[in-house]
Amino acid sequence: MCGIVGYVGRRMLVPVVLEGLKRLEYRGYDSAGIVYLQDGALVKYRSEGKLQNLENILGEAIGAPAHIGLGHTRWATHGAPTTENAHPHSDCTGELVVVHNGIIENYHSLRNELLEKGHTFASETDTEVLAHLIEEYLEDDLRAAVSKALARVEGSYALGVLWTGMPDTLIAARNHSPLVLGVHDEEGGFMASDIPPLLPYTDQIVFLDDLELVVLKGDSHTIYSLVTGDKVEKEVKTISWNSAMAEKGGFKHFMLKEIYEQPQAIIDTVSGRINPETGSVELPEMNLSDDELAGIERIFLVACGTSWHAALVAKYWIERWAKIPVEVDIASEFRYRKLLIDEKVLTVSISQSGETADTLAGIRLARDLGSKIVTICNVVGSTMTREAHGTVYTHAGPEIGVASTKAFTSQLAALFLFTLYLAEKRGRMEADKRLELGRELINLAAVIDAMLPRLQEEIKKLIESYYDARDFLFVGRGLNFPIALEGALKLKEISYIHAEGYASGELKHGPIALIDKDMPVLGLAPKDAVYQKSISNLEEIKARQGRLILIGTEGDEHLKCITDDVIYLPEVHEELNPILYTIPAQLLSYEIASRRGCDVDQPRNLAKSVTVE
Ligand code: M6R
Repeated sequence: MCGIVGYVGRRMLVPVVLEGLKRLEYRGYDSAGIVYLQDGALVKYRSEGKLQNLENILGEAIGAPAHIGLGHTRWATHGAPTTENAHPHSDCTGELVVVHNGIIENYHSLRNELLEKGHTFASETDTEVLAHLIEEYLEDDLRAAVSKALARVEGSYALGVLWTGMPDTLIAARNHSPLVLGVHDEEGGFMASDIPPLLPYTDQIVFLDDLELVVLKGDSHTIYSLVTGDKVEKEVKTISWNSAMAEKGGFKHFMLKEIYEQPQAIIDTVSGRINPETGSVELPEMNLSDDELAGIERIFLVACGTSWHAALVAKYWIERWAKIPVEVDIASEFRYRKLLIDEKVLTVSISQSGETADTLAGIRLARDLGSKIVTICNVVGSTMTREAHGTVYTHAGPEIGVASTKAFTSQLAALFLFTLYLAEKRGRMEADKRLELGRELINLAAVIDAMLPRLQEEIKKLIESYYDARDFLFVGRGLNFPIALEGALKLKEISYIHAEGYASGELKHGPIALIDKDMPVLGLAPKDAVYQKSISNLEEIKARQGRLILIGTEGDEHLKCITDDVIYLPEVHEELNPILYTIPAQLLSYEIASRRGCDVDQPRNLAKSVTVE
């Protein structure tokens, strides 16, 4: 989705904003623009395509003596991804500019009204309406004009506004689209749609809430409610992420770096929460009393994409160990179906970003129906964490690659902790078992760390016979069925190979018709409770000449009788196989996409944070 960066302060504007936009590239975009104030006039540059194109046309303007301005990366919704539609958008005078994320739902009627009043439009975007609407209300107070304009708007926005009449001030506002401020006494004031652009300058972050407006200057920020017009006092939070975490650190792609960061992300997610002596789990930030935990009759897990796959794994864990019935929903379906939810239901949202529009809408609905909300989330202070009653943070650090990797395995680690916690609180698990499973989880990071380089080498060689496939199937059973779905999603999103994931037992109900000598099938076959069943399904694929790649347990020689292409993984407790078996699926997708020359970190049409429905 679109990205906003705004800055006012002592530094040169263009490098700050350009670097900030680069740090938002992962969000996905198709055009970009920048505007700054120099000698009392606004100077605007915009271009289609990658930021490099913008940098090229900026030329010497990179060194412009400007200290206030805005930048934007646009992911087209209204109007093609052309230069004319790229942000910033101006009013009729050219003295006021707006950058905007989100969708102005009533832009048609507003545009017609403004056209009748004589405004002229230069783009097809919904955003441009905002510039003209603010112009309509502007006398000498920009804050008042923006507030009046936003009162007319239906839809979602994160907004940055600059006007020549107030040359030391940026206005920011948000409603249903993320926007954060970075503040620093000497560096100045920053605004951005996500934290990474702020990291080189400050760790002091202000998370805006919906319907808030900010007057941002180099040495101050004042927040107002758009509902009451009153000032709002907000905490400035210190975050633990640093600038290097949002850089590639010698890796070719963020995705590969993030695959390699998984052991650390798991350690950071687990450590301090599980007592290695007793297996007892502490999750105080969940904010649920023992009585509330005891009263849960059902759990709904709500998420999108990769996070939904984490939910599917968690259903197996929670039902088995905590013995609570679990329903798993794709958030975009959940929010539009008749929900049988009341105060005895616990709703758990799972989201890396904490900003996904459908998941947010889902938890709001569940909360209105009386359910307690817990979110499993990676971004401190994100909207979802502020709207939930409690949070279990994953500590994966910033995830920049669009394809989710370390966020997913950290979600699984957090959900496993969550399972042990529920099982303990509800008296469903013996201390010995808890201790055994807790220790296995703690040890898993070291197992993954040790196998990663060897695994990548093996997979790199293996994919030479598969990288040009047109289709791919992933199959798994039980806990590894969701991993088959996740493997297929990873492959299709970054390599553009058509890939599907299936429960192995489901093959003969249709998909087996696809199997022939040209169809690669990746089979997950660890030595687990359903191993024999999995092997039978894999034999059926072999009998139809499917091209099998098998991932299984070290020492399982039988797999070699089925295919030559076997990848062995160390044996861990079978409950933790979903975390372990995700890693080769990620590496396979990464190596294939890389081999095909795809843009691994920013796959076409995709956005990292899906903040519109
Ligand atoms: O931030 P979220 O976890 O809520 O995002 C949900 C999905 O958009 C996300 O998991 C997506 O499917 C992955 N980035 C794909 O790799």
